[in-house]
Amino acid sequence: MFELNVLLLFLLTAPDVFAAPTQVPMDVAMARPRKLQGRFLHITDIHPDPYYKEDRSEKSACHRKKPKKATPRSGYYGMPFSECDSPFTLTNYTLNFLENEWAPNIDFVVWTGDSARHDNDRKNPRTTDEIYMLNRVLARKMEDVFLSKGIPVIPTIGNNDIWLHTYIFRCVWEQLTNKNQNIMLPGPNSVTSEFSSIWRSFVPFESYQVFQRGGYFSVEVIPNSVAVISLNTMYLYDSNKDLALRYQDTILGHLYGHMNVDHFFFIDGEHIRRHPKQKSPLDISDEPQAQARKGLYKTLLKDFEDIPRASHNTSYDNYGVVNVSPSVVPNPYLPSFRIFTYNISGSPYTPAAPHSEPSTCSQDNSDYSWKRHLSKPWHSNPDSPSRTNKLWSPLGYAQYYLPGLASSSQKRPPKFKLEYLTFAVSQLHPSGGEGAEGFTYPVPLRHLPRSLRNATVTASKFAPYGLADLTIPSWADLARRLAEGEDKQLRKRFRRYMYMGADEA
Ligand SMILES: *[C@@H]1O[C@H](CO)[C@@H](O)[C@H](O)[C@H]1NC(C)=O
Ligand SMILES: *[C@@H]1O[C@H](CO)[C@@H](O)[C@H](O)[C@H]1NC(C)=O
Ligand SMILES: *[C@@H]1O[C@H](CO)[C@@H](O)[C@H](O)[C@H]1NC(C)=O
Ligand SMILES: *[C@@H]1O[C@H](CO)[C@@H](O)[C@H](O)[C@H]1NC(C)=O
Repeated sequence: MFELNVLLLFLLTAPDVFAAPTQVPMDVAMARPRKLQGRFLHITDIHPDPYYKEDRSEKSACHRKKPKKATPRSGYYGMPFSECDSPFTLTNYTLNFLENEWAPNIDFVVWTGDSARHDNDRKNPRTTDEIYMLNRVLARKMEDVFLSKGIPVIPTIGNNDIWLHTYIFRCVWEQLTNKNQNIMLPGPNSVTSEFSSIWRSFVPFESYQVFQRGGYFSVEVIPNSVAVISLNTMYLYDSNKDLALRYQDTILGHLYGHMNVDHFFFIDGEHIRRHPKQKSPLDISDEPQAQARKGLYKTLLKDFEDIPRASHNTSYDNYGVVNVSPSVVPNPYLPSFRIFTYNISGSPYTPAAPHSEPSTCSQDNSDYSWKRHLSKPWHSNPDSPSRTNKLWSPLGYAQYYLPGLASSSQKRPPKFKLEYLTFAVSQLHPSGGEGAEGFTYPVPLRHLPRSLRNATVTASKFAPYGLADLTIPSWADLARRLAEGEDKQLRKRFRRYMYMGADEA
C-alpha cells in the first residue's frame, strides 16, 4: 500500500463512449466560455496549520515559544526549510497570487492532497473535525480562486486528509505489516461521505456514487478529449504499477505529490516483471519521509542507469513517467507550484466547465468497465501523445518558488520567482510572430525573468534540461544524461532542484 497522492491525466480515445459532458456546479456554468490556454496548474501538499504563529520555535511546530532561546523563529509567511506547516498567510498569499497572476493563463487545476496539517505536535493532536475543517477552508478558497472563473479543479485525498476511525483495525494492520500508516476502508464510509460534501462542487454528478464508494473520480477537463482521474492512493497496491503501464496509449502522464521533493521516476514494466518484489521509488513512501528524501537522489540516479543507453534500443512500451511536484508547505524546503504546458495545436475545443449540455449518451457503457480491461493486453502505441509530440502531449513545465521566504515579513512579502523550466530556450519564443494562427508562448512572457524575455537569448541557467517535450522518450533522454554523469552541471542542477539548496542527499 502506498501513501501517495496521485493523479493521472487521461486521454479519452473513444469519445462516443464517454460522451456525457461534465456536470458542472451552478456558479461555474454561469462563467463565460474560456478559450483553451494549453496550460494547467499542479499544486500539492498545502498543509495549512491553524495553530501556526509568528516568532515561535521550530521544535514546537511553530506553535509555542519553547525553547525560549531557539533561533531562528517562525516568520509571518512561514518557516522555510523547517518541520513547520503553512500559516494561512502563506496559503492565502499563494492562492491569491495564482488567482491574480495565473488564473487567466490556465485551463484547469490539479490539486493533489494533504490539505491538513501534519500530526507533529504532541500537545495538539489532530482531530477528525479539524482535518475536515482545514480541507473545507481550502476547498472554499479553491472555489473562489478558480472554479468561480470556470476553471475546473480536481482534488485528491492525501494520506494526511484521513484519520483512523477504526483504531482496532489499525493495530491489526500494524502488527501484520509492521507499518505505521493511515489506512482507509472501502466506502461508503464517513470519510468518503464527508469528502463528497466538502468537494461537492469538484466531483461531477456522474462520479458521485463511485466517489462515495472509493474516494476516486474523474473530470473531463476538455470534453471528449482529456480527462483527469483523481485516484485514491489510500487504496494503492503493488498491482497498480502494472495497471499504470497497461494504458500507456491513453494516459498522458502521472502527477504525484506527497514527497515534497521535486523529482521524476519511471514505472519500468520490464523491471517489475523481472523483480516483482524489489522496491521502486513508488515504495519509498513506506519509509519515514525524511529518510526517504535523503537517499532519493542516489536511488534515482541508480534507477536511471537501468534505461538502455541507445534510444533505438529502448522498448518504450515498458515505461511510464511519474512527475512528482514539490509542495506549497515549506516543510522541508520552499513553497512552490508548477505550470504545465500541453499541446493544443489545431484543437477546436474550449474547456469543459462552461460548456455544460444535456447528456446525449444513451448507449450501454458496461463493456468499457475497468474490470473488463484488466484482463486485456497492454495498450501502447509509439504514435500516442505520451510518446510523440502531438495534440494533448505534455510539452513542458515552469516551476516557481518562494526563495525569499526566510527574509520576508508582514511588511515585506516574499516574491514567487521562476526556479527553472524544462523547455529548451529556443522554444520560449516560437516563430510565427504575434497574432499568427496558433501562436502561443509556452510560458507567457510576463512570467519569465527579464533575461528570458529577450528573443535573442540562446542559453540560460533557468533552462538546463532543454527538453523538447515531456513525452516518455524525452524523459528517458534526460535520465540517460543524468545517469551518464558527463554533464556535471546537469546533475548539480537536478539535485539542487530536488532539495532547493538544503544540505541533503
Ligand atoms: C485567508 O483568506 C480568507 C478568505 O479567502 C480569509 O477569510 C482569511 O481571514 C484569510 N486568512 C489570513 C490569515 O489571511
Ligand atoms: C542494442 O541491443 C542489442 C541486443 O538487443 C545489443 O546487442 C546491442 O549492443 C545494443 N546496442 C546498443 C547501442 O546498446
Ligand atoms: C503540437 O503537435 C503538432 C503535431 O500534431 C506539432 O506539429 C507541433 O509542433 C506541436 N506543438 C508544439 C508547440 O510542440
Ligand atoms: C536582447 O539581447 C540582445 C543581445 O544580447 C541585445 O542587443 C538587445 O538589446 C536585447 N534586447 C532587449 C529588448 O533587451
